[in-house]
Amino acid sequence: MTNETTAQDFSNDAIATRAIHAGQEPDPTTGAVVPPIYMTSTFRQPHVGQPINGYDYSRSINPTRNVFDEQLAAIEGAKHALAFSSGLAAIDVLLRSVLKPGDRVMLGNDVYGGTYRLLSKVFEPWGVKITTVDVSDLAAVNKALNTESFALIWIETPSNPLLAITDIEATAAIAHEHGLIVVVDNTFASPALQHPLELGADVVAYSTTKYIGGHSDVVGGALVVDDDELAEKFGFLQNSAGAVPSPFDSWIQIRGLKTLPLRMQRHSENALAIAQHLEGADGIEKVWYPGLESHPGHDIAARQMHGGFGGMVSVQLSGGKAAALKFAESTRLFSLAESLGGVESLIEHPAAMTHASVAGTSNAVPDNLVRISVGIEDVNDLIADLDQALATVNA
Ligand SMILES: Cc1ncc(COP(=O)(O)O)c(C=O)c1O
Repeated sequence: MTNETTAQDFSNDAIATRAIHAGQEPDPTTGAVVPPIYMTSTFRQPHVGQPINGYDYSRSINPTRNVFDEQLAAIEGAKHALAFSSGLAAIDVLLRSVLKPGDRVMLGNDVYGGTYRLLSKVFEPWGVKITTVDVSDLAAVNKALNTESFALIWIETPSNPLLAITDIEATAAIAHEHGLIVVVDNTFASPALQHPLELGADVVAYSTTKYIGGHSDVVGGALVVDDDELAEKFGFLQNSAGAVPSPFDSWIQIRGLKTLPLRMQRHSENALAIAQHLEGADGIEKVWYPGLESHPGHDIAARQMHGGFGGMVSVQLSGGKAAALKFAESTRLFSLAESLGGVESLIEHPAAMTHASVAGTSNAVPDNLVRISVGIEDVNDLIADLDQALATVNA
C-alpha cells in the first residue's frame, strides 16, 4: 500500500514526519502531492440533502481546511483540531462554548493583552468573572482554588511577554480536583515543542498566525482537543458564528506547518544563543528566556518542552523605558513590529504595543521590557544587530 492515494495512519511516526504527511493523501483525481485549494463556497449535490462526503457549504466544511485540521491534530497527537480565522476567534469560541454568566475564570497574570481584553471587556460585562493569579506559582493556584470557585483556568506557558513557565501536569492535576477545565495557550511553544494534552490539559489554543503559519503572512487560530463532547461544542459554535479561515488561508498554514519542526529547532538555537549573549551585557538588567539556567522555570520547561525552548526572548533595560524604546527603534534586521513567530526577526515594546490593553491592570507589563521574536536568520548577524542597537542605547 505504498503509493495508494488512500488515507494512511502516521500516528507511530515522529513529529517531523507527521507534519509533512498527515492529512496529505495525494489528490485521488490527479495524484497531486500538495492538497488543492478548494476555493469554493458551495458544492453540487447529486440528490436533495445528500452532499458528497458531507461537503455542503464551506463555512461548515471545506476540504482544504479539513487537511489543515487533520495535520494539526496529528502533530499534536490529538483527536480533534479546529481551525479559525484568528487566534482570538478560536479563544472566543472556546470560552463561549464552556462558560456561562456567573462562572469565574482563573487567568494567568502574564498573558497576551488581547486575551485579557476579550475576557475583561467582552466576557466580564456578559457576567463572567475573572481572577488573575500567578499561575506559574502552584501555591498561588492552590490558594485561589481554596478561596473561590472556578470554571476554567487559562495558562500560557511560556507566557507572553515575560516567558513565565507553568508546570502543566501539576497545575492540571490540582485544577481537575476542583473540576476546572484546563486550557493552555500553546502559541509560544508550538506543537513542535510542547503537547499540553499529554500533560493533562483539556484544550490547547493557538494563534496560528505565529509559529504554525510561520511566515507572517496569515492570521489564524486553532483549538486542539481530545474530548469528543468539547470538540462537538466547538464545532457547533464555529459553524454557528462562522469565524473560519478561507481555503487559501488554510492552505498557506498547511504549508507552514510542514516546516514547523525544522523552524522551531533553528528559532530555539538562535534564541538561546541570543539570550546567553545578552545576559549580563552592558545596559541589560534582566533576560527572560526559559532555556537559561537562571530562569526560575528552567527545570520545568526542560521537562515539559522537547527539542528547544522556543524563539521568544524578553529583556529589561537598565536605562528604563527610554532605553527600551531606543533599543527597539535601533535595530537593522529586527523589524519593529507586533506579532511573532515568523522566519524574520521582530522586536517590540509590549507596554506600548501588544500589551497596551493591560496598562494599569494586574496584568500590566514593565515599561523597560522589550520583546524579541528571534527569527531563523544567521545568528551572528542577529547578535551583531542587537549589539549595535545596545551600543546606541549605552552611548
Ligand atoms: C499567546 C497569544 N495568544 C493569542 C493571540 C491572539 O491571536 P491572533 O492575533 O491570531 O488573534 C496572540 C496574538 O499575539 C498571542 O500572542
